[in-house]
Amino acid sequence: MNPVKSTSLKAISSRSPIAFTSRMISSRAHASEGMTLRSFLQKCTIKRLPWGSPEFRSAQRLTSAVNPTYLPEFRVWPDFFAEIDKFFGPYLDKKFDTLIHNDLHWQRALESGVGLADESRVRDWVMRVLEEPCVQIIESIHGRRSNPLFRSCSAAVNIGSPDRVLTFGERGPGIAGASSRLVIEQETPWALPLRGVDIVQQISKYREDTRNPYLKSVHRLYGYMSINFLKYGILTTVESTRVLRRVCDDHYPEGILECSPEIDINGELLRSPLSALAYVACLIRKEGYMHMSMDPDRTWPESTRIIRLGKDGQQVAPIPGLVGNEGLDAREFRMRLDDVIKGSSSGSKYVTRGTIFVTKTDPNNGVPVVIKIYDLQNPNAAHQYSREIIMYDRLSPLQGSYIPSLYAHGTDSGGGFGIIVLEDCGESLQDEWYPDTRELARTALLNIHDRGVLHRDIEFRNITYSPKDNCLFPIRIVGLGSATSNPNLVTEDATSSELVKLAKL
Ligand SMILES: Nc1ncnc2c1ncn2[C@@H]1O[C@H](COP(=O)(O)OP(=O)(O)O)[C@@H](O)[C@H]1O
Ligand SMILES: [Mg+2]
Repeated sequence: MNPVKSTSLKAISSRSPIAFTSRMISSRAHASEGMTLRSFLQKCTIKRLPWGSPEFRSAQRLTSAVNPTYLPEFRVWPDFFAEIDKFFGPYLDKKFDTLIHNDLHWQRALESGVGLADESRVRDWVMRVLEEPCVQIIESIHGRRSNPLFRSCSAAVNIGSPDRVLTFGERGPGIAGASSRLVIEQETPWALPLRGVDIVQQISKYREDTRNPYLKSVHRLYGYMSINFLKYGILTTVESTRVLRRVCDDHYPEGILECSPEIDINGELLRSPLSALAYVACLIRKEGYMHMSMDPDRTWPESTRIIRLGKDGQQVAPIPGLVGNEGLDAREFRMRLDDVIKGSSSGSKYVTRGTIFVTKTDPNNGVPVVIKIYDLQNPNAAHQYSREIIMYDRLSPLQGSYIPSLYAHGTDSGGGFGIIVLEDCGESLQDEWYPDTRELARTALLNIHDRGVLHRDIEFRNITYSPKDNCLFPIRIVGLGSATSNPNLVTEDATSSELVKLAKL
């Protein structure tokens, strides 16, 4: 056997180390011919718009129970493009193994958009022509282990339902352990004409017009950013994009929203939507969260998640144990969000344990509460929110005994979410009764029926138990979001079958 002809690696390397290394290098280079960021961005330029003809265009109407005039001060993000130039400058002519561009693949991706006429197809197209290349750029700069992922919001348990979310694989202090760091609202250009429009001007000019589409869409995105404690968001119709960032400084301790200049789909190199998206993605890896200081003279630790009620917030019952809370404007309350109890997959509702305290006092001296947060952009959630308040009002004599006390309610300070603050009544039952509690639950339900209300969601998880000493009535019935007081529905049949349902648990 002739050792020179052997193909075994060991044989080659032992015979001729130089030949071996050069061969390895050339084969690796062949497998992944990288390119410079500059040529990658050039290759990924989008020259033509793919929209379908107007008669086929569909769009969902934006109807919601939200008052968009709650939007904070809105102004231009100065130096946005200068920041991009500065950030990508050093990388532009550097070659990255991770940047691979296949002309045929790219042509197909572009063509897959031809004739686009509805939102979901726009989304698919954006995945191919923006999100995929963006992931390549992030991985070039931050390494593959950064694990960036564009996904639908339901994959990232946060409250609200933005169209797309960018997360990184590393763990972060996000709500519910999820790590959404960038929220993206995609509108179709025919639903929201953004191209060539100065939205900062449009919003300041028609600031009080609740139908102003620019105000509405910016406010919606702002709501998703603020309730999830995020610093950046993107509003895009694909052909035209704006990056938004929350800023908070001495002049605006409660926050202000800034808007980048327009980024046009046909923009090239460092003016393209791809580079804007990649830039923000790289930023948020460092500073994606924003735990806004809500009081000028207080700085919260990084991971504290605090919300407060907006203009319409009201306290409806005294909060036992909370010092100095009588006669307060409900806006003086602060709620620190602690453990999550329940989030919905659509992000439209969110229940969490928390602590309520008065501004400028120590959160650790606050009172434990349960906080329900509803996304008012979602008509179902908005309906449940108002229904729940009506039911608590109607059943007010039962509060604190058969049902929880309702301490306060209102929208959050950004105006996009309904907040209900309840007495914390302990843990819900887990498929079995504690001794004597079935009878107590029956008494509670009878009392609810006596006041003309049908609960309509009798389950173990809607019955809480708190073994606290001196607690006269350890059982509470919760979850009044589906309850009704419509006399046509609260019939004798209906109430007795609800009692039967309870007896069968
Ligand atoms: N006041 C409360 N005290 C303790 N736990 C509560 C309270 N309110 C709700 N919970 C818990 O949160 C869960 C969801 O709340 P619920 O009001 O039933 O909302 P949903 O309408 O989503 O079912 C309940 O199953 C219960 O475990
Ligand atoms: Mg429930």
